[in-house]
Amino acid sequence: MGKVNGKVALVTGGGQGIGRAIALRLSQDGFAVTVVDLNEETAQSVAGEITKAGGRSLALKVDVSNRDQVFAAVKEASEKLGGFDVIVNNAGIAPAKLLEDVTLADFDKLFHINVTSVLWGIQAAAAKFKELGHGGKIINASSQAGHVGNANLGIYSATKFAVRALTQTAAQEYAQYGITANAYCPGIVQTPMWSGIDKEITASKGEATGDATKEFGSKIALGRLSTPEDVSAFVSFLAGPDSDYMTGQSPLIDGGMMFL
Ligand SMILES: NC(=O)c1ccc[n+]([C@@H]2O[C@H](COP(=O)([O-])OP(=O)(O)OC[C@H]3O[C@@H](n4cnc5c(N)ncnc54)[C@H](O)[C@@H]3O)[C@@H](O)[C@H]2O)c1
Repeated sequence: MGKVNGKVALVTGGGQGIGRAIALRLSQDGFAVTVVDLNEETAQSVAGEITKAGGRSLALKVDVSNRDQVFAAVKEASEKLGGFDVIVNNAGIAPAKLLEDVTLADFDKLFHINVTSVLWGIQAAAAKFKELGHGGKIINASSQAGHVGNANLGIYSATKFAVRALTQTAAQEYAQYGITANAYCPGIVQTPMWSGIDKEITASKGEATGDATKEFGSKIALGRLSTPEDVSAFVSFLAGPDSDYMTGQSPLIDGGMMFL
């Protein structure tokens, strides 16, 4: 029995990694969950896991950088699942490059997928909450790289700083409607994204695959890499009633990599 029965959440990038863990956790918490991903197959697979476990779910193929598609997904989620209460703007990409190699196309792609998408998610969710006449929760994926610029991940870091800025502004602009906005800042989470980052960084330095993970991992006080479930547990708190008095914040869940 979940703690928020009857509420509806939408998770972008829910087909794998952190988004999948969030979708499964929010379902356990009692949310009906719309799993949104560019990859229709993985979105459907996660929605299938939820329904198999007795939850309610919907899978939608959406490119989060496309405003119309994000608005349409929120509309469909609300119509098919019967309401709308939480959006988790989780989808993102993290190509690794030195600043000197970054092209305008790299920059535009990263900002569209990691930042513009969050803006569309904020707009679509807030419009729906207002239409339904109640508050709601906006939850965005930032990163430890949203608190400090990471070598080899300069533009990615810039996008995650930008997500914190949008989160702080949304908190102020939407508080009057009972809408909160917070972000989560994971450290090194074992997902396909992190494997890709490790491969790109080590290949560019002529190192063995896994060396970047060892280097980043050595900086974690708790002595282990993060699981997606470490992050989804915190997102569960942000989505639930216990975080009602919190807005505009972007806490780290990084096992003790950074101390702010
Ligand atoms: N893995 C980490 O170490 C880590 C650390 C800090 C922050 N984050 C952030 O957490 C979020 C999830 O990361 P992850 O590691 O699970 O990544 P991942 O690459 O494993 O999964 C990301 C998912 O997003 C989807 N996606 C990508 N572009 C999309 C688009 N345009 N439209 C819709 N869906 C799209 C992908 O298909 C994939 O299913 C990202 O925003 C990432 O930046 C990850």
